Amino acid sequence: MNTVGEMLESISGVGLDSHRGGYSRPVFSSAELELRDWFTAEASRRGLEVSTDRNGIMWGWWDAASGDRAGALVTGSHLDSVPGGGAFDGPLGVAAALAAVDVLKERGVEPRRSLAVTVFPEEEGSRFGVACLGSRLLTGAINADKVRNLKDPVGNTFADVSRKHGLDPARLGRDEEALRTIGDFVELHVEQGRALIDLDAPVGVGSSILGHGRWRLSVEGQGNHAGTTLMADRADPMVVAAQIILAIRRIAAAQDDARATVGRLQPVPGGTNVIASRVDLWLDVRHPDDAVTAALVESIHGQAQKAAAFEGCAVTLTEESFSSTVHFDAPLQRQLQNSLRRSNAGNQVPALPTGAGHDAGVLAGYVPSAMVYIRNPTGISHSPEEYVERDDADLAATALADVLEDLL
Ligand code: GLV
Ligand code: MN
Ligand code: MN
Ligand code: MN
Repeated sequence: MNTVGEMLESISGVGLDSHRGGYSRPVFSSAELELRDWFTAEASRRGLEVSTDRNGIMWGWWDAASGDRAGALVTGSHLDSVPGGGAFDGPLGVAAALAAVDVLKERGVEPRRSLAVTVFPEEEGSRFGVACLGSRLLTGAINADKVRNLKDPVGNTFADVSRKHGLDPARLGRDEEALRTIGDFVELHVEQGRALIDLDAPVGVGSSILGHGRWRLSVEGQGNHAGTTLMADRADPMVVAAQIILAIRRIAAAQDDARATVGRLQPVPGGTNVIASRVDLWLDVRHPDDAVTAALVESIHGQAQKAAAFEGCAVTLTEESFSSTVHFDAPLQRQLQNSLRRSNAGNQVPALPTGAGHDAGVLAGYVPSAMVYIRNPTGISHSPEEYVERDDADLAATALADVLEDLL
């Protein structure tokens, strides 16, 4: 069977974005659908029974002799990407899970409980705005009505798009049956920072995920002609947006451990010779303490209102999603460290906090969950420069197999 490196190589042409660089694989795009087909083929080749559940999560089952799926060991990640993302965020965890099944079979492991490899949809929230949508639906962490009404950038609702791809929008939401099958969840992921490379350690485990949320700020002004409107006569929401972005940097920089980002901004209608009538800014704020996050957002909102009023514009703030800080199950985390230390030539296996969100973080609120990180020599992620050495990609399979074998 193919190694992790070979598997990633085989999908390296899917969703290449010549405009942005890297990969753009939004959920239910032709690229993500091609990767779902790739998953079905790879999982089926390994004798796994593949199905897609009512929330669009894919499962590949290796059943225990009993055939009982309750309390199974589940591992996987996602195949969607941010716009212009790297090759590893998501697919590394899926390919490593498939290759770990090969390693376990080669070792002659007979699973004492069933094992499933999963693919979660819309982990990045790059199409419908809410990250980890699949795991939020599965657990009921998000209201299904809200999800049905989420819109992509061109106005398609999640209900319509999911229906087009074979799901029944009426059945989206908490899935007791699927949840009961998850005894423990392990997600392997490329590290999205520099901790492992600086520690000279190939593999780490997750200790926590920083609380994070997304908000939309809409600034309404007066659309008008760029040539005929005197500077003194303008209510230009772009000018307000610029001031809001500077205020966000100032406010977040003054708060320990805070991160705040505007990575997406949309002027409407968006013409060079048009003063915008509206600008939408998407705000991402992260901090370990939810009360601090709320205060940061409130302070940003206050500055935005001030800047808007000065320009004769109006601003509204809408929360799109929020997740509190997650601490991974401590006994499971220690067990992973022991498994990895044993198989990893005694290398240290650091426990790492991360500022990045993951389906494992959502699932951690419902079932024991854990993460394995593989070092990334650039330390960069959500960018084409994200990287994993070929040897480390293959190590991911044995590292994950060591963890799964001990847990099975
Ligand atoms: C998802 O990758 C996130 O942390 O935004
Ligand atoms: Mn990811
Ligand atoms: Mn990501
Ligand atoms: Mn993520």
